[in-house]
Amino acid sequence: MSAEWKQIIANIKEWVKEAGAEQVKRLDQPMEVKSKSSTIDLVTEVDVWTDEFLRQKIKASYPDHSILTEEQDFHEGASDYEWVVDPIDGTVNYAHQFPMFCISVALKYKGETVIGVVYAPKLGECYEAMKGEGAYLNGNPISVSQTDNLKAAVVATGFPYDRATDPQNNVKEFNAVILKVGGVRRTGSAAIDLCQVASGRFDGYWEYKINPWDFEAGLLLVQEAGGKVQKVKQEKGYFVLVGNEPIYTELQDLL
Ligand code: IPD
Ligand code: CA
Ligand code: CA
Repeated sequence: MSAEWKQIIANIKEWVKEAGAEQVKRLDQPMEVKSKSSTIDLVTEVDVWTDEFLRQKIKASYPDHSILTEEQDFHEGASDYEWVVDPIDGTVNYAHQFPMFCISVALKYKGETVIGVVYAPKLGECYEAMKGEGAYLNGNPISVSQTDNLKAAVVATGFPYDRATDPQNNVKEFNAVILKVGGVRRTGSAAIDLCQVASGRFDGYWEYKINPWDFEAGLLLVQEAGGKVQKVKQEKGYFVLVGNEPIYTELQDLL
């Protein structure tokens, strides 16, 4: 493991813990909530605050790196490094004071994700992975589940914000899967869903029309925990499918 990457992951953990503490502090205070692309796609003032907080931290330590965050324009740097940040994944949950939200931070080097950190402050869970070094939850190694049949599997998914107006809304796929599996969960945070697969609590996850800030950190976590991952760029966003090997394969057949 490069000493430089080790230092970067330590920095990220310090930043997300500071930002997460602020998110928890502001969770039950009155806050400004605005709609983005649709009336159900929300952004709170805490999303904006966290986005700016993390950008400033990254810029101060790594001024030549590129930065992609959900709430601001792409910042073009001069190096091969690119950060991909979701300041709050699970904003609708956050706006409803439901504790299933997190900060997701990925670092790419020459186009490949090499570091992923997902911190869910209300759950007290910090997931981290570095390329080739395994996946960890609060410092303890994690791995995907052993479940090998769909009937026993619990899987997660999500639905796009434009689901009422665009027929590509995952309803048909959800109906196909729900009849075959032990259970389906919808946490409202793609990054948390991916971390649940990495930690073996869920056996698989799929979603359509999601964005790099939702999944880049979580995909590395699943990979490093021994899972299979697929990400396909589509007309609108990405299709992502992950799981332990047998459940991944069964889900792929159904979708
Ligand atoms: C959303 C969450 C949700 C997923 C949506 C995402 P946001 O991110 O990850 O689970 O279903 O597709 O956009 O808006 O809370 O950052
Ligand atoms: Ca998100
Ligand atoms: Ca977000």
